[in-house]
Amino acid sequence: MDPVRNPYAPGAGQRPPELAGRDRELQQFEVVLERVARGRPERSMIVTGLRGVGKTVLLNTFRSMAMQRLWGTGKIEARPDQSIRRPVASALHMAVRELAPRHRAPDRIEEFLGVLKAFAQAGPEDKSGKARVHRWSPGIDVPAARGRADSGDLEIDLTELFVDAASVATDVGSGIALFVDEMQDIPADDVSALCAACHELSQSGGPLIVVGAGLPHLPAVLSASKSYSERLFRYARIDRLDRESADLALLAPAEREEVTFTPDALDALYSAADGYPYFVQAYAKVVWDVAPGTPITAEDIRVAAPEAESELAVGFFGSRYERATPAERDYMRAMAQLGDEPVATSSVAQELGRKPSSLSPARDGLIKKGLVFSAERGLVAFTVPHFGKFLRAQPA
Ligand SMILES: Nc1ncnc2c1ncn2[C@@H]1O[C@H](COP(=O)(O)OP(=O)(O)O)[C@@H](O)[C@H]1O
Ligand SMILES: [Mg+2]
Repeated sequence: MDPVRNPYAPGAGQRPPELAGRDRELQQFEVVLERVARGRPERSMIVTGLRGVGKTVLLNTFRSMAMQRLWGTGKIEARPDQSIRRPVASALHMAVRELAPRHRAPDRIEEFLGVLKAFAQAGPEDKSGKARVHRWSPGIDVPAARGRADSGDLEIDLTELFVDAASVATDVGSGIALFVDEMQDIPADDVSALCAACHELSQSGGPLIVVGAGLPHLPAVLSASKSYSERLFRYARIDRLDRESADLALLAPAEREEVTFTPDALDALYSAADGYPYFVQAYAKVVWDVAPGTPITAEDIRVAAPEAESELAVGFFGSRYERATPAERDYMRAMAQLGDEPVATSSVAQELGRKPSSLSPARDGLIKKGLVFSAERGLVAFTVPHFGKFLRAQPA
């Protein structure tokens, strides 16, 4: 059918034509926003799940919901080895700019921007030793203030910055939401500073929330950092879509184009995509282009499957596999041989005929690259659904 009218959207962070099966999370976030707006004590939300289940898309939807309520919003994507100081400064700059036009006292905004600038510039020397050569200033044309949020200690500085940002939001009768994607990648020291700042803020009741998304082990990362983080955040684990939601994800966009699927076709698609949102979009995209007309049939799915699979093999699986070193690839192949459940690191070592300790660098490298996570102490699992199956299908 006409590829121009193809509604499906495979791709990281791509907004799906129909956000299926996430009503509960949307409702929960609605409650969070409403309670924070009313100054009620509220835990913030953190969305976790495997790659391709729709965390980024959900986080972006949360952001739109906050914007609709005229909150100030900003978003960062955490990276390993990168301090969150500057990204957070940019994100809060953006959030406060959204609120500024409604503020009655422009000098309060200027005051905040001065603190923000000082915060951004107070980071420790960078690793190259070229300290403050490029004194980064995020396009803020006020002088940096002194004596607030600029101690160089991220925990103190973030806390002060959050309190000040929250008070700007209070002035305009609104809130600020800071979104953090790939939250598991925040360096350990910064995670602890961020939790501490959220903790302080939750006690003062200021209308600023940090909303996160990350891999399934994120709750463990946060509790290891600060034991009280369990009480700070409400965790929403998202997963594959159930049958009804997966059908809705396919049918709703098609029906807006006056196209439908036969029941057999829906069966075939559910068994191929296994309910994983990324796979649902990927198969549907190819099937649409291949199908001669409506309704889309099981035969169309059969014809489209090889192309959909090869696109996934390149774009979804292959692009990640490429990032691994030879030793890391061996490690993952051994994991794949052991099945699709989380596997014991000791079994991986046995499979490879190696000492467990000698494999730590490979395992840690894979965790850092976000290909593998530690599901529980001593267990590892793929962050990418069906990754084991993909590896087993590769020539050795
Ligand atoms: N609820 C949903 N219904 C239908 N498709 C979805 C849904 N959530 C995500 N998708 C699709 O899944 C893919 C992956 O979404 P993304 O948010 O990037 O996942 P993650 O951040 O968890 O890796 C995108 O192509 C997106 O359009
Ligand atoms: Mg994502």
